[in-house]
Amino acid sequence: MSRKPLIAGNWKMNNTKTETIKFLESFLPKAKGLSVDIVICPPFTNLFVAAEKLEGTDVKLGAQNMHWEDKGAFTGEVSPVMLKEIPCDYVIIGHSERRQYFAETDETVNKKIKSALQHDLLPIVCVGESLAQREEGITMSWIMSQVENALKDISSQELEKIVFAYEPIWAIGTGKTASAADAQEVISAIRKKIAQMYCSDTAEKVRILYGGSVKPENIKELMQEADIDGALVGGASLKPDSFYALCTFN
Ligand code: G3P
Repeated sequence: MSRKPLIAGNWKMNNTKTETIKFLESFLPKAKGLSVDIVICPPFTNLFVAAEKLEGTDVKLGAQNMHWEDKGAFTGEVSPVMLKEIPCDYVIIGHSERRQYFAETDETVNKKIKSALQHDLLPIVCVGESLAQREEGITMSWIMSQVENALKDISSQELEKIVFAYEPIWAIGTGKTASAADAQEVISAIRKKIAQMYCSDTAEKVRILYGGSVKPENIKELMQEADIDGALVGGASLKPDSFYALCTFN
């Protein structure tokens, strides 16, 4: 089974509207005919302008979060209906920063995944352990329970639309990348877990990314691992040259 690599840039709370336009004017002319799928996830305020620039290109647009309800009294939130109209293609769900600072739970992650799928948005679902959990030796059980809870009541047809991202929290923005072998170990365990919950054919179709201090210097080694299907990149996705280098790792 060959899965097409996916490189996604999660800009987090970086890049203004002006900076977004500048980035895309530099990046898009080069990003043609590449052998990977590319997704850019700017802040909400820049989605419209990014969508205009991305129209007619191969680069897809993603949001960094959403609420699970279509509309209502949820001050400060953005709904899947709003994202779809922009139009966004992807949405990041359950990033560790949302879990850590904004009370995201496995339950809300599951609700958001179901809502995204209902609105034809492709979820990029993040899982990952803290340094304390890794040192305690509970990485695998923690990640497997995050995966299991995320997929509660999700059918195998729906699962095929989901992308997972394994992002060890201790590797995010720290410059410490998990070794390619460590990332592969967890990611292949996620695939086995999906195979147990569904079937191996479905598990073979699901793309699982690695995230955490991915840069042009280390992406090649990560991508050589059998189960790593791409990267969810923060810092190194903010500048067109380094993001382009990531998208052309092969
Ligand atoms: O979602 C991407 C992320 O959390 C990794 O960030 O800056 O370590 O690449 P960074």
